[in-house]
Amino acid sequence: MKKTDNQALVIFGASGDLTERKLIPSVFNLFCGGFLPENYAVVGVSRSVYTDEEYRQKVVFENEHLKNKKAATPEKLKAFAELVFYQSVNTKEISAYSALKERLDQLDKQKSCANNYIFYLATPPSLYQTIAKGLADSGLNNQENGWSRLIVEKPFGYDLDSAKKLNKDLLSNFVEEQIYRIDHYLGKETVQNMFVTRFANSIFEPLWNRNYIHRIEVTAAEHVGVEKRGGYYDSSGALRDMIQNHLLQLVALVAMEPPVKSDAESIRNEKLKVFQSLRPYTESDVKKNVIRGQYSNSTVRGESVDGYREEDDVNAESKTETYVAMKFFIDNWRWAGVPFYIRTGKRMPTRVTEVVIHFKPNHHHLFAHDSTLANQQNVLVIRIQPNEGILLKFDMKIPGAGFNTEQVNMDFKYDELTNVYVPDAYERLILDCMQGDATLYARGDSTEAAWEFIDPILKAWEADQNIPVYGYPAGTWGPENADNLIEGKNMNWRYPCSNLADDGIYCEL
Ligand code: NDP
Ligand code: BG6
Repeated sequence: MKKTDNQALVIFGASGDLTERKLIPSVFNLFCGGFLPENYAVVGVSRSVYTDEEYRQKVVFENEHLKNKKAATPEKLKAFAELVFYQSVNTKEISAYSALKERLDQLDKQKSCANNYIFYLATPPSLYQTIAKGLADSGLNNQENGWSRLIVEKPFGYDLDSAKKLNKDLLSNFVEEQIYRIDHYLGKETVQNMFVTRFANSIFEPLWNRNYIHRIEVTAAEHVGVEKRGGYYDSSGALRDMIQNHLLQLVALVAMEPPVKSDAESIRNEKLKVFQSLRPYTESDVKKNVIRGQYSNSTVRGESVDGYREEDDVNAESKTETYVAMKFFIDNWRWAGVPFYIRTGKRMPTRVTEVVIHFKPNHHHLFAHDSTLANQQNVLVIRIQPNEGILLKFDMKIPGAGFNTEQVNMDFKYDELTNVYVPDAYERLILDCMQGDATLYARGDSTEAAWEFIDPILKAWEADQNIPVYGYPAGTWGPENADNLIEGKNMNWRYPCSNLADDGIYCEL
């Protein structure tokens, strides 16, 4: 196990939703798992006024997301709460940072955290630059006497220009090695397993190219709507919220070349090359190859569900997309001519994220007696969530006379590995940052390269208001037009069910 230095985690945005729902529970899990160093502290920072004790009540003792954990015994909660502190700060005020520094110095003496700090930015993104500058001006970026790391939450920019500006501003106060841009998809165990599936098995890599792969699909469907985040979502939309980051990260892991080593820089260099090879869209490509949609009210499993425009904090005439499906190409030696299809949407029939590799059919159809079977392809499904696992579809002989074939499933599911604890994505990522490992964080150059691919789509939508936003009833698979993206006889998206081995539009959810 890697060594974890004594240190403190300073969370900006400490009274917010992310801190309560994800960050504190993840640190608690690390505490219960024995992953925290001997000397450790969490310091919450936001404008709201709490004493240390009041803040501990809020985020530890009364936190529903923490209380439901099996390990949350009263003794464990009490011991954990003693590591948690709070400092009220308005990060827009310059004087606030010297007060914060004073408090951190004092805690450092008390807790011996060795002057090592992670500053986690979980505030509205408009404050990221201000906080980084405030920290630097008060010397909290200094690494002479300990280290200083900055975790930056998504969204990383709103478009290419703002992402470039954010990178530039952060880099004028911290060096790249100090900056950890979080994408929680990379913390998912099954996403990391994609890397292992490809590069630890000799059977897949020889086939992993244009000679054997017909097309690749990535789906990230959510059953929920925008929940309480209508205000944020309405100025973001699915393209910025899911595609620019999470889905393109999945594409990079599927499409990258084998890295020379499994270290952060080698892996991140290869991922960058994928982003740089994405074929840029022209305005007419956008019209043809990018489908956007928005959910409308409907009845889902007997319950009436609001349409997007009826959600709290959403403009009643909003044209923000809650669904995007797109087709694109990666112009490099390995992927020339192989279409990639990716889609994401809220209020889909079920929650599922998966990568589907469709292999080319046989060149000579020895056993196929009709044209449907002749098109039959081997399919490898890498299920990210739920029912995590891997499924391979291949042909078998139907017992009896003749050579009739049928496609069967061979699958492996993670939950078959009993007694293996699968950490939450945030838990894994926070621990990596604590240990100085940036492999699963996005590097500045690749974040910009991903925006470079997305920006023309945003621009095309802005320039041509006539590009349709198709409505789709909540609880369905999105606009039917998305089916037309996949050209080819008898070919369509895989319509996954929550159970890995099942598929089809009408399967049980
Ligand atoms: P919230 O609105 O719930 O929380 C925002 C936090 O920022 C609050 O603690 C607020 O506290 C603090 N804050 C706002 N202004 C200031 C200021 N001037 N000085 C100091 N603190 C300030 O947002 P979320 O927790 O939902 O999101 C936080 C970030 O994480 C956002 O960038 C979001 O995009 C990102 N994110 C959130 C996810 C989620 O599921 N919630 C998922 C992925 C990313 P106070 O008002 O007390 O100052
Ligand atoms: C977040 C998006 O980054 O990812 C949300 O802002 C989305 O809109 C969420 O719901 C999905 O994450 P997961 O882990 O539930 O697939």
